[in-house]
Amino acid sequence: MTSNVDPAALAARYHSRHARIGIVGLGYVGQPLALCFAEGGCRVLGFDINEHVVQLLNSGRSNIEHISDERLQAARDAGFEATADYGRVDEVDCIIICVPTPLNRNREPDMSYIRATMRSIAPHLRPGQLISLESTTFPGTIEDEVLPVVRERGFTPGEDVFVAYSPEREDPGNEHYSTRTIPKLIGGVTPACTAIGVAAYSAAIDRLVPVSSTKVAELAKLLENIQRSVNIGLVNEMKIIADRMDIDIHEVIDAAATKPFGFTPYYPGPGLGGHCIPIDPFYLTWKAREFGVSTRFIELAGEINQGMPQWVFGKITDALNQRRKAVSGSRVLVLGIAYKKNVDDMRESPSVQVMELLRTAGAELDYSDPHVAEFPRMREHHFELKSVPLTPESLAAYDCVALLTDHDEFDYGMIAEHSALLVDSRGKYRQPFATLVKA
Ligand SMILES: NC(=O)c1ccc[n+]([C@@H]2O[C@H](COP(=O)([O-])OP(=O)(O)OC[C@H]3O[C@@H](n4cnc5c(N)ncnc54)[C@H](O)[C@@H]3O)[C@@H](O)[C@H]2O)c1
Repeated sequence: MTSNVDPAALAARYHSRHARIGIVGLGYVGQPLALCFAEGGCRVLGFDINEHVVQLLNSGRSNIEHISDERLQAARDAGFEATADYGRVDEVDCIIICVPTPLNRNREPDMSYIRATMRSIAPHLRPGQLISLESTTFPGTIEDEVLPVVRERGFTPGEDVFVAYSPEREDPGNEHYSTRTIPKLIGGVTPACTAIGVAAYSAAIDRLVPVSSTKVAELAKLLENIQRSVNIGLVNEMKIIADRMDIDIHEVIDAAATKPFGFTPYYPGPGLGGHCIPIDPFYLTWKAREFGVSTRFIELAGEINQGMPQWVFGKITDALNQRRKAVSGSRVLVLGIAYKKNVDDMRESPSVQVMELLRTAGAELDYSDPHVAEFPRMREHHFELKSVPLTPESLAAYDCVALLTDHDEFDYGMIAEHSALLVDSRGKYRQPFATLVKA
């Protein structure tokens, strides 16, 4: 199809805020991005297949803890609207895709959300639109999943429809960086695609970093997350060694971190959690096999990190055993079930894996988490539990209290004072005391 699309005129539409922004997938990534565009003066139309989320957002409320209703209401006043109707895709100038990219049961990339999105938008695509994929994925996804759909509609990428990859770097709970101030990579299929992408995002993001191709942007995102996974794997292994040697790994990390160059501290814990770090490395290992490359480093880090819940469970078992108690029948209180501190996100939380191990071994479980009032329905896990309020009496009622996610809201003095046995997997307590076990 040849159309008379003028890239300069399109860019001007974005700069003058006349363009309408479309965002597909209104979750942890899509919602804050939609708000940033609205706060940057754009009209935003959000798409989500979850009718409940659509209704909630249209009533000015968010299902995400760190997004305030006031902020959402202000975006509504500025023209933000959510819909489940893909028929409205032709109303928007760009389609920014923020749908999930999990692993399937065989721990292989699950591209079904991206494919479903492309199928849904295809009939409504029109010349002049930009498609930008944000979901984390392996290099080649734009070529394999997005471009064929664009071409099937008869459009030429870079001439009448523009296509880019711009990975999300959202870090919920980060006090120093927000969606707007985190620099954002963007790689287009052609230079015109990159230019239109930069123009589109400039209303919401302070600094765009163009790269030469979609594949560079795709692989850069994976490098960022894999670097974290490998370094956390290393420090988790160091924790196990230090524990055997009766050395406090946290004191060691603090000591090493005084070196002003060449050392970056990473912190051990009960395992990896969240939507990104436990999952994204396996997008690359899967794709690398197609090229005959085995990714030993990445797999090894994954293996060590995945073993950490079991290691923490072993420390809890040993600690109870030393007090002449079996796990079976012991009352165990887990502190913190979100995957990291000060957020409500439970995805891939290692706390849940420790809870599963404890339940299988016959422990009587409870949990306390100021961010998760009730244990949510998860795809593979469920506990009929509600968060237990922490008091001296409630703490004293347990055989073991296991600190798995170190939220700031916890009263650490009270926890130490009233727990009969306290297992700390986060290095929160540095000074030893009789009832403390570091894990
Ligand atoms: N959460 C993070 O901190 C983070 C950080 C960086 C990158 N990412 C990446 O961003 C992507 C999105 O992650 P998220 O955390 O926002 O996920 P999420 O589960 O919070 O949100 C995804 C949303 O997409 C919706 N959705 C699913 N299929 C859809 C479809 N076909 N059409 C329209 N909507 C659909 C869901 O209903 C949900 O509301 C993932 O690829 C993830 O790896 C996430």
